Amino acid sequence: MNYLSKYPIKNKTVLLRCDFNVPVKNNQITDDSKIVKSLETIKFLLQNNNRIILLSHFGRVKAESDKQNNSLFIVFEELKKYIDLEFVENPLNLDKVKNTSEKHCFLVENTRYTDVPEKRESANDLDLANYWASFADVFVIDAFASLHRVHSSTAGISKYLPTYIGFLVERELENLKLLIEISSRPFVVIMGGAKVDDKIQIIEGLLNRCDKLILTGGILNTFLKVSGRNIGDSLVCKDEKILESVKKILNNSQEKIYFTNKFIVKRSDSIEEVDLDQIQDGDIIYDNIIHIKEIIKDSEIIFLNGTCGVFEENVYAKGTLNLLENLSNCNAKIIAGGGDTVSAISIFGYENNFDYLSSGGGATLEYVAYGKLKALDWINSTK
Ligand code: 3PG
Repeated sequence: MNYLSKYPIKNKTVLLRCDFNVPVKNNQITDDSKIVKSLETIKFLLQNNNRIILLSHFGRVKAESDKQNNSLFIVFEELKKYIDLEFVENPLNLDKVKNTSEKHCFLVENTRYTDVPEKRESANDLDLANYWASFADVFVIDAFASLHRVHSSTAGISKYLPTYIGFLVERELENLKLLIEISSRPFVVIMGGAKVDDKIQIIEGLLNRCDKLILTGGILNTFLKVSGRNIGDSLVCKDEKILESVKKILNNSQEKIYFTNKFIVKRSDSIEEVDLDQIQDGDIIYDNIIHIKEIIKDSEIIFLNGTCGVFEENVYAKGTLNLLENLSNCNAKIIAGGGDTVSAISIFGYENNFDYLSSGGGATLEYVAYGKLKALDWINSTK
């Protein structure tokens, strides 16, 4: 596939797939980094006299009622601060793009609106891809954080248009090479975050590639429970299949897996710092503190995805802060990925202690675990 940096496109209409799936709280974007990182490709294309039709998904749209809270209009208002653009309200009607000549850039409403009533975007509906493609001359894929999804807007369109990789995706691939090639070892993965459910397969993939896996955050609870520990009333996975997989992982890879030492639990009306064997019925784990110095001391490469606790609340931020502090004093090359992780790193001011911060969450995890990105594979296989 061609890189935009090597084949600068001029005087065309470009369908540009970005990932504007930014976190929002109380109607405010809480982290605009995905938008800011997308500007390089957008500005480059505009400078080269191209018209741009921007596509992106936003949140999950499974029913009509999900549309209201998942409109890209909030991103449109943010993007307007940087570029002159127009909003296209209906992703199934792009006629506005044809009829307006003076505007150079359009942002189309959430591509996942087309998933209701029948899944189209998420099912990689090629008629939909062809419809979008019919408005443009070329397709540029710059949505790194969406490349683990084979959808009409991330993959399908490439069947109908010459396809190029944008600057953001190029930079991600270049920087993540370190975690794919693993030219020096030990390679340590630190995994946290809230839920184990959607990460269990990834954990299996990561264990095949890394030398040590440190588990923290909510996902650790399920591992502790399966290994017979009391975790009180803490968040835990109940899906039998996943519990079976956790058991299998613990049996097969116990020597590679490292846990935490201290937990911060909510107990009745108090917040306590306790050891694992002091956790009582009714306690809820909200944070854990890992003494990782020994585990990471000789490591060459570290990948961090996830935090140790509910770091947004001061009383539960100790574990995440301690982890970031330990990492910042370590000589390994360190890369982090995932919205919450990168946000914790920037809130606590550790950005300069990392070699690279990836804009992908699930995409980065899949790439590190399997060395592949499904959308790029699909595009390559149909070219
Ligand atoms: C992300 O935020 O990880 C990406 O935008 C993908 O979102 P999705 O998991 O809803 O496909």
